[in-house]
Amino acid sequence: MERTMHNGDLRLSDVGKEVTLLGWVSNKRNLGSLVFIDLRDASGVVQLIAQDPSILPDVRNEYVVEAKGVVEKKDVPNPALKTGEIEVVLHSLKVISKANLTPFIIADKTDALEETRLKYRYLDLRRPCLLHNLRVRAEIVRCWHEYFGANGFLEVETPILNLATPEGARDYLVPSRLHHGSFYALPQSPQLWKQLLMIGGVERYYQVAKCFRDEDLRADRQPEFTQLDEEVSFMDQEQILTLNEGFLQKVFRELLGVEISLPLRRMPYWEAMDVYGSDKPDTRYGLLIRDLHPLLSDVPFDGFHGVPYIKGIVVPGVAKETSRKVLDELTNEARKFRLKGVLSLKMLDGQLQGSFLKFLSEEKQAALVSELGLKDGDLLLFASSDDRRAIDFGLGALRTLYAKKLGLIKPGTYDLLWVVDFPMFDPIEGQPGVYSAEHHPFTRPRDEDLAFLESDPERVLAYAYDIVINGYECGGGTLRIFDHDTQWKIFNLLGLSDEDVAKKFGWFIDAFQYGVPPHGGMAYGLDRLTMILCGTDNIRDVIAFPKNLQAVDPTSKAPAEVSEDQLEVLGIQIKEEE
Ligand code: AMO
Repeated sequence: MERTMHNGDLRLSDVGKEVTLLGWVSNKRNLGSLVFIDLRDASGVVQLIAQDPSILPDVRNEYVVEAKGVVEKKDVPNPALKTGEIEVVLHSLKVISKANLTPFIIADKTDALEETRLKYRYLDLRRPCLLHNLRVRAEIVRCWHEYFGANGFLEVETPILNLATPEGARDYLVPSRLHHGSFYALPQSPQLWKQLLMIGGVERYYQVAKCFRDEDLRADRQPEFTQLDEEVSFMDQEQILTLNEGFLQKVFRELLGVEISLPLRRMPYWEAMDVYGSDKPDTRYGLLIRDLHPLLSDVPFDGFHGVPYIKGIVVPGVAKETSRKVLDELTNEARKFRLKGVLSLKMLDGQLQGSFLKFLSEEKQAALVSELGLKDGDLLLFASSDDRRAIDFGLGALRTLYAKKLGLIKPGTYDLLWVVDFPMFDPIEGQPGVYSAEHHPFTRPRDEDLAFLESDPERVLAYAYDIVINGYECGGGTLRIFDHDTQWKIFNLLGLSDEDVAKKFGWFIDAFQYGVPPHGGMAYGLDRLTMILCGTDNIRDVIAFPKNLQAVDPTSKAPAEVSEDQLEVLGIQIKEEE
């Protein structure tokens, strides 16, 4: 097929050229003596015009056609199209492939249900906005290869069929045909392999890595996602952050024309939690969390007695419209984060109002108003807790909710920062003294905190860092433990017995006896980074064939039952549901 130009590339400078174009009919307007056709290919759309409609075969939307004609200047340009200054006067049009009526109209603006779009994803992908997202994704990967390749990183592929090792989320398992009753696990990340590559002397590794996690899905989570994964030996944390800032600068510069100023801010985890109520703070707007403990710990309200944390946020201008019902909804939101309740006070007609007022003396009221700078219309939401994470996350959720409600986030603005100094351990709710790893068990505790590993694990901070963009955790990493005994001890502290460590991680930890370089690394969530650069908050918009929120692929309908024969070969019998 001899195409002379791509449709979207035609410009005024092409006027007079004889062209042969290929593509899909995206729109046809019949004005009787003239017929206009918009012809779409991957590069864009151009308008064709048939001055003699009798030359046209029967063409309808989404037919694939070959068009021959001459490029001419349009009398009235269409500024909405890149090709809007020209049109192609048709000499002939040939149908290459017919199309049925599509289940939805192929256009950026659509009211088709997402489930329908995902079922017919191949039609959905014809929408220019989705193709754009795939291009942005590919461009990020191009930057990744250019940048890390230029910095001496070696691309190495790591196994997909792995030993199941506890790493946070649930594993996807693959039954073994040759070893009945045994299973491989799909990788949640290449973490252990990349560390073995460092022990293997590779020094600088990177990979575009598919990862699989069987966890509850959200707008920014997929069961199958992609990491831009890297690991490096003989670099400290600052060197790793600086290296990665160069990559981020390149991505923002080349894809958005946005200059990010370096170095990026480094915010300690507890500052992020205390002030923004999140370990992935969006600092583009205020609504900061305020510590009210000094002011309110001595008021005669039972819920505040002896409680270590009393905090609140001031939401400007919403006091009047905040009904009981709204407050109940806010409380429900905060409860998702183990915060028992949310109290409120309103500033109306120059004074505080609300049932909590009975616990506040006049001096306390005045102090509250002046300390928080309360103005007419302000709503103060506050709470108490003995769990620092619960109160921070709970109020943080309200902060995010109001930022969206009040439209405080300007689209097209970018806020990048590192969150650093994460705690090493995350206490497991309801099980005092039992911890999970805040990042993963291979994370190195800070040297100055090693002494507290056993005596006070909660105060131990780690060499761990997350890159946060616009309130999304777009990547994270850590320096790794490179000492055999410390790694063993951390496993023990995370509740693994010596036998468990030997059984599950023996193959890995044995390597630590043969000379281990200090190493560290990180992984970006490619899908999330693409979301940010495409300005969408739906991860499915940046994946060609995503799963839906039930972890089903709506196009092929996977997962599905398999035949008895296939199960037989694997030695698997399905238990009937009770
Ligand atoms: P972590 O688990 O933080 O670290 O993952 C790194 C980044 O991957 C992205 N991500 C996801 N994206 C979409 N869907 C998911 N289900 C999902 N889970 C994670 C996030 C996250 O920041 N091995 C370590 C990295 C390291 O220490 O080097 C790891 O996997 O953007």
